[in-house]
Amino acid sequence: MEFYRFLCFLFCLSGQLLLSLPFTTAQLCHHVQSDALLQLSNSLTVETDTDRRCDPKTTTWKNGLDCCSWDGVACDNITGNVIGLDLSLSCLQGTLHSNGSLFALRHLQSLNLAFNDFRTSPILPELSVFTELRHLNLSCSNFSGLVPVEISHLSKLVLLDLSFNDTETYGLKIENTVLKMLVQNLTKLRELELDGVDMSIVSPSSFMNLSSSLTFFSASGCGLQGEFLANIFRLPNLLDLDLHSNDITVPFLKSNWSKSLESLILSYTSISGKIPESIPEFENLKTLDLKNCRLTGSIPSSLVNLTKLTKLNLSRNELTGHIPSFVGKLEQLIYLDLSFNNFIGVLDFGVLSKMKNLQALRLSVELILAHNSMNYTFPKLETVALSSCNLTKFPLFLNSLKKLRNLDLSRNKIGGQLPKWFWDVGKGRLESLDISSNLIEGRIQQFPWKELTNVDLSDNLFQGPLLVPPLSIFSFWAAENGFSGEIPSSFCKISSLAVLELARNNLSGSIPQCLGNLTNLYYLDLSANKFEGTFPWSLDNCASLAFLNVSYNKINDTFPKCLLEAPLPWIINLQYNEFHGQIDPPIAPFLSCKLDTFSISNNNLGGQWPEEYFLHCFNMWSVDLSNNRFEGPLPIPSPGTVLYSIANNKFSGKVSPLICNATELVIFNLSNNSLMGTLPECLMSFSKNLSVLNLRMNMILGVIPRKFAKDSKLGTIDFS
Ligand SMILES: *[C@@H]1O[C@H](CO)[C@@H](O)[C@H](O)[C@H]1NC(C)=O
Ligand SMILES: *[C@@H]1O[C@H](CO)[C@@H](O)[C@H](O)[C@H]1NC(C)=O
Ligand SMILES: *[C@@H]1O[C@H](CO)[C@@H](O)[C@H](O)[C@H]1NC(C)=O
Ligand SMILES: *[C@@H]1O[C@H](CO)[C@@H](O)[C@H](O)[C@H]1NC(C)=O
Ligand SMILES: *[C@@H]1O[C@H](CO)[C@@H](O)[C@H](O)[C@H]1NC(C)=O
Ligand SMILES: *[C@@H]1O[C@H](CO)[C@@H](O)[C@H](O)[C@H]1NC(C)=O
Ligand SMILES: *[C@@H]1O[C@H](CO)[C@@H](O)[C@H](O)[C@H]1NC(C)=O
Ligand SMILES: *[C@@H]1O[C@H](CO)[C@@H](O)[C@H](O)[C@H]1NC(C)=O
Ligand SMILES: *[C@@H]1O[C@H](CO)[C@@H](O)[C@H](O)[C@H]1NC(C)=O
Ligand SMILES: *[C@@H]1O[C@H](CO)[C@@H](O)[C@H](O)[C@H]1NC(C)=O
Ligand SMILES: *[C@@H]1O[C@H](CO)[C@@H](O)[C@H](O)[C@H]1NC(C)=O
Ligand SMILES: *[C@@H]1O[C@H](CO)[C@@H](O)[C@H](O)[C@H]1NC(C)=O
Repeated sequence: MEFYRFLCFLFCLSGQLLLSLPFTTAQLCHHVQSDALLQLSNSLTVETDTDRRCDPKTTTWKNGLDCCSWDGVACDNITGNVIGLDLSLSCLQGTLHSNGSLFALRHLQSLNLAFNDFRTSPILPELSVFTELRHLNLSCSNFSGLVPVEISHLSKLVLLDLSFNDTETYGLKIENTVLKMLVQNLTKLRELELDGVDMSIVSPSSFMNLSSSLTFFSASGCGLQGEFLANIFRLPNLLDLDLHSNDITVPFLKSNWSKSLESLILSYTSISGKIPESIPEFENLKTLDLKNCRLTGSIPSSLVNLTKLTKLNLSRNELTGHIPSFVGKLEQLIYLDLSFNNFIGVLDFGVLSKMKNLQALRLSVELILAHNSMNYTFPKLETVALSSCNLTKFPLFLNSLKKLRNLDLSRNKIGGQLPKWFWDVGKGRLESLDISSNLIEGRIQQFPWKELTNVDLSDNLFQGPLLVPPLSIFSFWAAENGFSGEIPSSFCKISSLAVLELARNNLSGSIPQCLGNLTNLYYLDLSANKFEGTFPWSLDNCASLAFLNVSYNKINDTFPKCLLEAPLPWIINLQYNEFHGQIDPPIAPFLSCKLDTFSISNNNLGGQWPEEYFLHCFNMWSVDLSNNRFEGPLPIPSPGTVLYSIANNKFSGKVSPLICNATELVIFNLSNNSLMGTLPECLMSFSKNLSVLNLRMNMILGVIPRKFAKDSKLGTIDFS
């Protein structure tokens, strides 16, 4: 035995020595494989100008050097074959060809091409030559098309990652038969990630015989539909299961839950019914995320036995009853979100304060928080969202939060002035503050938080001059208060400002001309104040505006020309001002922007815009120029316009048939102008959604067009 060890020692030593000598390592890499690598590198370009952070690896590859020492390349120490290729995040761009040199690297055991851009090329069936492959990672690398059945030949695969992180479009698609074979043949799989792969034609039952070695399985946002089999909860080695954002149900088990599971994410699915009492059989569960499902009933008392939970999200369900005081015993919790359910009753703050590790706390709706006392501290809390909790005072415990970044106390009944200690919250580091829809009064001069990016003071009783928010601000919401005086020109210094919402206050004076210099501003609402004078945008300065509402003021200007040339979709509301003059050219070249993501109810942008709003272009165009003194020919709305009103102006001339290109119109109001001539033949039929057509008080003559759209929704027609 001793002798054997000694031999081994000698051998290892000599192995080390050999390895460290340059001439021997040079022999390690086979020429054929080295050439193949260089060819692969030459067939792709390195694109460092993308948004993605990447680190070019192939640029360091040099002919004549040992390829085993190249960045991203791993060789077998004994045979010298290239067995590992990790080109993830290497800024690569181009397509792979079936005759490509990559497939010459037959000994590959691990291939990672994640986070590159393969220009929507397909995953090639030739990859079945990699019979030794154990790790295949093609995530986020812009492959598309059908996943080839040959992938199921790779029966030694331990890790397969085809996930794609683009929620807009699917890249890859898997057919049911291919998935079945994959499940059948890849019996050694431990990690399977298929997020964002289109599986809308895959039956969830195809996952029935998933490898029992599986530790990590995710298939979120795959368009899966139907009932998943409960077997998945019994996989003996499973650690992470993530099926969020699919239209699936899962029958909860009575027993035999996997003991190993640590993370269960089933948010945004169609799971319904009660949370089962047997859930603590997942005795190792750390993350339980059931947000936005259809869960009913109360929180089962057995949940207290999930003692390892660090993240619990049950928000946006229909859960009822009390929030049980045992939640306080879940002492490991870092993240707790129970908001937007139908809980009732009283929740004792002392109970919550036992969770010393809590970093984020979200509750809401009809809860009374008892024992509002400074005695309770949450040393690590960074996020507090107590929206709609019937609070009447600022919770004193906020005072003790030294790490607070995000605070949401909106929709409560908090009255009085901001308490002095409030300025100390988060020790100057607050990033987001929402105290909207309360009864808070008084003046605010300045915020002490230098890193604040979002602030919402809307719908309170604040008075006095408008405060100047810190330079870090991105969105500033202060509608529906009693702020008065002018907009301080120092707002113009906030170059990051993107949202400025000051509607329904007592503000007056002229709008600072320099606001037109804010190149990031896309949302501006100054409606229902007392602004006068001219509009601040010069010809080429409103390129970023997407939402503009200055209605109900006394602005005396011509139509802001830059609006006609701006590239973004528009909601324009100029009604009840003193705008005048012609709109030139009268065909408002409001760019066409056809998309289908928005319904008319979203037009009324009462609160904050959801983030998705900016990812999609929307056809929710609304142009309201009514109650001004515009004149000249009728401007033609763009094809996507939904609401169009020019009522109570002095527009003149004929109603052009070009109007009929606006096939999405729902409300069309031309009343009280000086329009004349006959009506275009298409008027009653051009939009099948038209519900209001108002032409009263003009000088139109001739006949009313008889052709109506099929299923016409016209409810109001006024020709008086
Ligand atoms: C090969 O050598 C490298 C570096 O010396 C070492 O990290 C690796 O574990 C070895 N691989 C095998 C398969 O022995
Ligand atoms: C591989 O195929 C592509 C397209 O099919 C072709 O353009 C290219 O010349 C081929 N390369 C080699 C090395 O044969
Ligand atoms: C994917 O490839 C297509 C086609 O070449 C390209 O237009 C697109 O920008 C790429 N997408 C990403 C995320 O790289
Ligand atoms: C795939 O590679 C990427 C980039 O290296 C990495 O972030 C990801 O975790 C890998 N996937 C798996 C399942 O390990
Ligand atoms: C399963 O894998 C084996 C190799 O291990 C292969 O011969 C067979 O064709 C594969 N079956 C399918 C259906 O892909
Ligand atoms: C996917 O996108 C989400 C949201 O954009 C992001 O939080 C997450 O880190 C991304 N995941 C990967 C692997 O890039
Ligand atoms: C928690 O687990 C213990 C021990 O397994 C058990 O006796 C107890 O009944 C469980 N509590 C609940 C509320 O299920
Ligand atoms: C909370 O406020 C709402 C609205 O004012 C009220 O209907 C409800 O009864 C209150 N809830 C509690 C628990 O007091
Ligand atoms: C808070 O603590 C103080 C002293 O520690 C005690 O006198 C007081 O009763 C406590 N208040 C509450 C509401 O528990
Ligand atoms: C706005 O920008 C213009 C040109 O970019 C500059 O001349 C002007 O001084 C700026 N106005 C203010 C108030 O910053
Ligand atoms: C609007 O401004 C013009 C000059 O720019 C002025 O002649 C006119 O009287 C103003 N109208 C009103 C209603 O203030
Ligand atoms: C309006 O539609 C007609 C055809 O119906 C088309 O020729 C014309 O270009 C369209 N005009 C605009 C401004 O879109």
